[in-house]
Amino acid sequence: MKITLSVIKADIGSIGGHLAPSDELFHTVRRRMHADGEPLVLDSYVGSTGDDIALLMSHRRGEGDAAIHKLAWDIFVAGTAVAKQQGLYGAGQDLLRESFSGNVRGMGPAVAEMEIEERASEPFLFFAADKTDPGAFNLPLYLAFADPMNTPGLLLAPKMASGFRFVIMDVMRIDADHVIELNAPEELYDIAALLRDPERYVVESVWSRATGEQAVAVATSRLHNIAGKYTGKDDPVMLVRTQMNFPATGEVLAPWATGHFVGGGMRGSHQLPIMPVPLGTGTSWFDGPPLVTCAAFSMHDGRFTEPIDTFAHPFWNTVREHVANKAMEMRRQGFVGAAMLPMAELEYTGITEKLAILEKRFVTRAPAAAPAA
Ligand code: F6R
Ligand code: MG
Ligand code: MG
Repeated sequence: MKITLSVIKADIGSIGGHLAPSDELFHTVRRRMHADGEPLVLDSYVGSTGDDIALLMSHRRGEGDAAIHKLAWDIFVAGTAVAKQQGLYGAGQDLLRESFSGNVRGMGPAVAEMEIEERASEPFLFFAADKTDPGAFNLPLYLAFADPMNTPGLLLAPKMASGFRFVIMDVMRIDADHVIELNAPEELYDIAALLRDPERYVVESVWSRATGEQAVAVATSRLHNIAGKYTGKDDPVMLVRTQMNFPATGEVLAPWATGHFVGGGMRGSHQLPIMPVPLGTGTSWFDGPPLVTCAAFSMHDGRFTEPIDTFAHPFWNTVREHVANKAMEMRRQGFVGAAMLPMAELEYTGITEKLAILEKRFVTRAPAAAPAA
């Protein structure tokens, strides 16, 4: 049976700055999702990660469906009213347009969707990250789908032996979607050459070359491309199907033990390691660190099981300690060099204005007179 999985997520307000949505906001969104989604969706799940709320929906209406997108938009608008009533910070922050116009893409909320032929058991993972951008998924996806050092299935599972196709988007091109398709393992070095720059080149989807099935869908929107100015980090979501012809769930989770450095954290302008945390975890230290949650589901006829909170497992306590230490170590060098993102990625314009003023104060020193012969 063909089923579409849609995740639509937005930051519509949070307590104490950009920390976490209030209970009232979260429960309003959940109530509305269950009531308003009734005729449209087969099943749904509402989750929060940092200050973001995500709606996961299964349905039969295909990707980019206007009714599903409008449902999500209306729920976020209703949530924003509660956020305003409660005086939550950044109420309605990610709703960048006044009114809905057919599809939430380009309107602020992040979207990851895929239409699949549902397997008898359909295990999949729903990742959500806060205080970072979609490039944060580049390294974990490369390791999980292209590197036998991480994924023994690439050596051991016959259906994985022919590798995976990566669709990569240049997110700096705002005139239209610019994408490239590259095959692992033959074009591994080309994939690596692009993914090394996660602020520009972002994995959009991954496909099995053995069966043609889609394994991964990532939300690739860049808010500053939409709004033309800083409105918050992009805080991406992604869906990953696992097992059988795809990497095992554990092979997809394993790369998150690295705590790799990603763009995000304070004022969306720093390089910090990303920390895998339990579902519903808010933000804290240094408006971060960047967080990722992962809910594992099985699905049958479009109906979800309850989620397993993969990063709540005790294994990840050691990882969190390691990531916290890495983060504090990076912060010891404050604003200098690698600790802050490059100029083009800084989310606030203050420094650009400052540099323009300072530029006028630079003087060109006259060359020293040549010594007499
Ligand atoms: C928000 C974020 C935060 C804010 C910071 C300042 O996602 O990353 O670090 O940038 O708290 O927020 P404003 O400018 O809203 O006071
Ligand atoms: Mg925010
Ligand atoms: Mg956020």
